[in-house]
Amino acid sequence: MYKLIVANWKNNPATEEEAVNLAGKTDHENLVICPPLHFLKSVAGVVKKSPLGAQDLPESSAVELKNLGVKYVILGHSDRRSIGETNETIARKLSLALSLDFIPILCVGETWEEKQSGRKEEVLREQIKVVPSGSNIYVAYEPVWAISTSGSGQRDNPVESLETIKFLKSLVQAHFLYGGSVASKNIGDYLKYEEIEGALVGGASLMPEEILSMI
Ligand code: PGA
Repeated sequence: MYKLIVANWKNNPATEEEAVNLAGKTDHENLVICPPLHFLKSVAGVVKKSPLGAQDLPESSAVELKNLGVKYVILGHSDRRSIGETNETIARKLSLALSLDFIPILCVGETWEEKQSGRKEEVLREQIKVVPSGSNIYVAYEPVWAISTSGSGQRDNPVESLETIKFLKSLVQAHFLYGGSVASKNIGDYLKYEEIEGALVGGASLMPEEILSMI
């Protein structure tokens, strides 16, 4: 079964030159490359095989992203939710994305505090409500506390994430990815399940050999 691997560079690399260099080294038809928005244009100039993704869909740049050849858009990443992006805003961006024929990758996931206080399912239910029925969309389940840069230091258990993805699947029809400290040493623990159709990779996607070994 085909699995979708998405390289979410987040705020990296530091310079345009490094971004172009990393894109050139990891250009591969099975890897979606999502550079920071400000490097998209230069990265679009070098990738020949990788589909391009954007890390957000600012309404003002939607047409420009389309013209650059961007195919996927990541929406609702925890970095954006943590600076105040609401489910309402995400819903608006999601319908804009679908109207422009982007393939959305909606990130959902609970924080450690939400998990500990027994609110995980409630939070996920609210976050997933924005998905319109019958749309072609990916949902990435990323427990916020398992993301390498969130600094919680908590380890995720793949079986528990599989159960969460099954729960989400019972609520909406979508393709499901997993994200949160995915690396070559653990990617197989997720992708072995048919319910998990790919991975959203952050930190490890900045290391060419590492990310290429995952696709
Ligand atoms: P990580 O990031 O792989 O570095 O944990 C994933 C993400 O934030 O999408």
